[in-house]
Amino acid sequence: MNQHDTPVPERAQDHVNASRLLDTITALAAFGGRDDGGVSRQTLTDIDLASRRYLIEQARALGCDVSTDECANLFFRRPGRSDLPPVLTGSHADTQPVGGKLDGAYGVLAGLEVIAALNDAGIETLRPIEVVAWTNEEGSRFGPGAMGSSAFVDPTRLAEYRRSIDGDGISFGTALDKALAATADVQRSPMARPMAACLELHIEQGPILEADEVPLGVVNGIQSVRWYRVECRGVMAHAGTTPMDRRSDAMATAHHIAQQLYSFAQQEASTQLRLTLGRWVVEPNSVNTIPDRVEFTVDVRCVDESVLDRFETMLNSATAAAVSAPGAVALTCFFRRAPTHFPEEMKELVQRACSRASAQAGRKQPIALTSGAFHDAMYLADHCPTGMIFVPSKGGISHNASEATAPEDLVLGVQALAYAVAALADS
Ligand code: GLV
Ligand code: MN
Ligand code: MN
Repeated sequence: MNQHDTPVPERAQDHVNASRLLDTITALAAFGGRDDGGVSRQTLTDIDLASRRYLIEQARALGCDVSTDECANLFFRRPGRSDLPPVLTGSHADTQPVGGKLDGAYGVLAGLEVIAALNDAGIETLRPIEVVAWTNEEGSRFGPGAMGSSAFVDPTRLAEYRRSIDGDGISFGTALDKALAATADVQRSPMARPMAACLELHIEQGPILEADEVPLGVVNGIQSVRWYRVECRGVMAHAGTTPMDRRSDAMATAHHIAQQLYSFAQQEASTQLRLTLGRWVVEPNSVNTIPDRVEFTVDVRCVDESVLDRFETMLNSATAAAVSAPGAVALTCFFRRAPTHFPEEMKELVQRACSRASAQAGRKQPIALTSGAFHDAMYLADHCPTGMIFVPSKGGISHNASEATAPEDLVLGVQALAYAVAALADS
């Protein structure tokens, strides 16, 4: 068969170049690369800004037009035969304080590899294709997470995001303005632009695909998530001289609330509720002073949102009950998202794409699974037909320097992405 008789999605899939993909993953990981093999590239830090310049250069070298929006999301556009709404793919390039090489970065670089493969195959698509690098998906420096994608979908969210403060007192707005100034040569594109469809490729970050020895996963959707901040106030006093019954100890209050949250999680074990109290701020943080302020974050997730409703009722009463003069407890919810369900037609396309890539490689057929992590695709699902593809994570480990995926699985993921993006862009 003449290669031009081969359907466009298959030709795109067959032109993915493994070594080019793996080389760019290594190159991007150098921005914030750590001695332990991990990456520290929190959003809008100088290292993140430098990595954005690298991505811009890579995209321009592939012939893409580059644009950015008010939330510093970066878009790399491969024109189509028409000016119809583009097909969007990509992910985020920011990391956790200690992250790996793949969480987010893989999806962005996979998008660029799809463009390189289409170039090599000499394929012109009907629709433009845009690869996106969303700003601040992680939410570790500025909360909440997935800021860039959620602001893109609903730009009214940006005003509140701009007021979010990091641990050094820098506002997201200030960091954003610096990022935009650093890309003054890049044209601005409007937020909330119509998109034909969106497809995000990501590592699973959990143990399911590896346990089944399956290289590709069709993502059904994303479980619900809520983030809270609990701030406990007390009175600073001497650790050695203040009798236990005369203290207002912010840590004792925080610890008491935390215990109730963990016991709730234990009671709800059968629902697969996941609870993390990940960030603690203790003031004055001295061995021999009773803390007068303890703040901690609560990350709680479940596929069944009614469990999170029950959790919230319990959290409200635990914090209300813990208030005792002269102490105080303040509870703020700063992120909440109902479960996401991707549409059937996107799951069917992803299934076809994963199925062909797996069969060509003589590997097991894809399975369907629900994402335990949230992703930018969660918000894009409000905007256009959206889907996701997963590849396995070794040991199910992520948000960890040792996060890894077998190179052949990384390549298969991009092959599946190339097929699906080409199919969407040609219809
Ligand atoms: C994303 O990083 C998440 O916390 O799910
Ligand atoms: Mn991610
Ligand atoms: Mn992450």
